[in-house]
Amino acid sequence: MSTCEFMCLNGEIVPYKDAKIHAFSAVVKYGLGVFEGLRGYWNAVRKELYVFRLAEHIERLRFGMKVMRYDSIYEAAYLEDCLIRMLRVNDMRENCHIRMIAYVDGDDELTVTGPVGLVIGTLKRPHRKSIETGIGMTVSSWQRIADNALPPRVKCTANYVNNRAAELHAKLDGYEGVLMLTADGKLSEASGACVFLVRQGRLITPDVGSDILESITRDTMIVTAREALGLPVDERRVDRTELYAADEVFLCGSGQEVTPVIAVDRLAIGNGKPGPITRRVQDHYFKLVKGEIADHSDWRTAVWHRN
Ligand SMILES: Cc1ncc(COP(=O)(O)O)c(C=O)c1O
Repeated sequence: MSTCEFMCLNGEIVPYKDAKIHAFSAVVKYGLGVFEGLRGYWNAVRKELYVFRLAEHIERLRFGMKVMRYDSIYEAAYLEDCLIRMLRVNDMRENCHIRMIAYVDGDDELTVTGPVGLVIGTLKRPHRKSIETGIGMTVSSWQRIADNALPPRVKCTANYVNNRAAELHAKLDGYEGVLMLTADGKLSEASGACVFLVRQGRLITPDVGSDILESITRDTMIVTAREALGLPVDERRVDRTELYAADEVFLCGSGQEVTPVIAVDRLAIGNGKPGPITRRVQDHYFKLVKGEIADHSDWRTAVWHRN
């Protein structure tokens, strides 16, 4: 899997090889980028590609630019236009992943705030096998970054040094994924996804004060669990050992979609297989993102049949 041929750099469609920024730009020197990872879903019956929750991803990107005190913040309409043009020029007609990065391009000292740049690219991405099989995870000895240090609520590229350290360590130890705890030892999130537990028919997820990214998929889970699946959801602090006590655990995120977790720290979750509630949540999610059910049509931005 590799990035498609055309990217959008500062509003211009350019070949992948020409999407370049200076080696001394602030994003290289200090990690001054904010980004979004989104998915596009192909509906073969309607011959349509739907970008899922584009408006919310754009708003989170703009929020990140504000908190990072960028010189200027792109208009939402401009961001949407760049993304749609990039998908169209690549003739994207299958499931894909999209990345948008807004960055500080200036070569200056640490407090530099501009000029601001924008790059958007995509790659074809089918579902991962792990959504069927589930994954075994560990709880990291790396602590989740704290809101008053490197705010996880801001999807800043520099934050991901934390996630990378935890993920690499876990993979070297033979796990397929990693969960992190807050400074006070409560469950936070996975390296690129939020986490839900199922206990006695209730969904439980760490609250937004648990040093998580305010995940758009997490919000989708909460809304659809309550509205469409009739499942109660608790957003609260979660202990590490509640993971071990859970009937089911799953991850959610644009990239991870809905991924069952079948073991944590080599302790089986439930019977060690993806559970029935996780399967219901997955089934509903995949129908929703592809537009196979009509609910929340405002969450799906059509790429090909637009006014
Ligand atoms: C650290 C982290 N948490 C959670 C998520 C899930 O967020 P979203 O559902 O908005 O994609 C992501 C990325 O996608 C992430 O990087």
